[in-house]
Amino acid sequence: MTDDSALYIGLISGTSADSIDAALVSFEGGLPQVHATYAHPWPSTLRERMLSLMQDEAALDLDAFGHLDVEIGHCFAEAALQLLEQSGTPAHLVRAIGSHGQTIRHRPTGDYPFTMQLGDASVIAERCHIDVIADFRRADIAAGGQGAPLLPALHAMLLAKEGHARVVLNLGGIANITVLGADGTVLGFDTGPANGLLDAWCMRHRGEPFDRDGAFASSGHVDAHLLEALLADAYFALPPPKSTGREHFHLGWLAAHRALAGIRPADVQATLLELTARSVAEAIAQQTPTTADVLVCGGGTHNRRLMERLTALLAPRVVSSTAQHGIDPDFLEAAAFAWLARQRLLGLPGNLPAVTGARGSRVLGAIYSAPTDDASAWRNLGHK
Ligand SMILES: Nc1ncnc2c1ncn2[C@@H]1O[C@H](COP(=O)(O)OP(=O)(O)O)[C@@H](O)[C@H]1O
Ligand SMILES: [Mg+2]
Repeated sequence: MTDDSALYIGLISGTSADSIDAALVSFEGGLPQVHATYAHPWPSTLRERMLSLMQDEAALDLDAFGHLDVEIGHCFAEAALQLLEQSGTPAHLVRAIGSHGQTIRHRPTGDYPFTMQLGDASVIAERCHIDVIADFRRADIAAGGQGAPLLPALHAMLLAKEGHARVVLNLGGIANITVLGADGTVLGFDTGPANGLLDAWCMRHRGEPFDRDGAFASSGHVDAHLLEALLADAYFALPPPKSTGREHFHLGWLAAHRALAGIRPADVQATLLELTARSVAEAIAQQTPTTADVLVCGGGTHNRRLMERLTALLAPRVVSSTAQHGIDPDFLEAAAFAWLARQRLLGLPGNLPAVTGARGSRVLGAIYSAPTDDASAWRNLGHK
């Protein structure tokens, strides 16, 4: 059903909700090869609505919820169609689209754990005329796992180096690490907040969607008292497996700390950046004290100040972008969802139970079929 030359598309918008990232990927010898990429901008009012929902600032009635699911689905379809058009790829050459959707809530613990991604996959299949695989996280949660992170399997395939321990750090809205052991073991979890909080504070005080190069943070000073209060959050001390999202680390969470009072906005930005760097560095030191190599992907790779602080805190480890290892740091996640789509069609697992805590490997995702020609579809069922 699936061969080496078949093309797949991976689509994702992460917790930063900065853009829908699309990658056109083939799997020669099973290894992903990215042929084209495209970042589709969110309409700004839609992005604002999604962010306020993710941060628990707005409620949604059922009609609005249904509308939003379809609206996001159309945006994902447009991302895929643009990728096809820009790369000159006819849709019939694409075996399937793996669509992560937009997470608007992630609650992997409690009596009824759940995770919720929006972006109606039927809309994507209908508009693109390509089979779509979606809903990648819930089978893992149903099996007692966190449903996240799902990137470590691909990190291991692409970046593991025999006999060497390595860490892959993804700086998205939330930061997650993959620990690649010298013996081939793979661990991974969310360390805590990254761009999500930085973006939100920057938007509130600068009116800009993100702190380019960390310039706003660089103009301030870390407030040690606030930093200590933030680092006291119970999430940081939880042992893995663990995962989190913007429903936990958002501006309301920050505002709930009394230590915030009276601190200049630039100093808060500096402190939030330091919070990311410190929580990541401490997680790495604790999980894998001897690892010498930290490879970074995700949008935070472009935040010069954040990379400087990580380099300083992680020394003498070498901190580098995955770009230096031939892998585009901005589209690794999209490529991962192309890989997960292929795994689904091959009937192979997508989760790593050692990472997510699920009670076993699970085939992830559900198939939403492309429209078929009516007459031939009925003939296949024996109807004339
Ligand atoms: N030049 C830059 N300077 C600082 N931050 C940047 C820069 N470029 C991208 N980013 C950050 O990266 C984020 C997007 O990262 P991404 O990996 O797409 O996260 P997610 O997976 O959560 O969507 C942006 O919201 C922004 O915070
Ligand atoms: Mg993104």
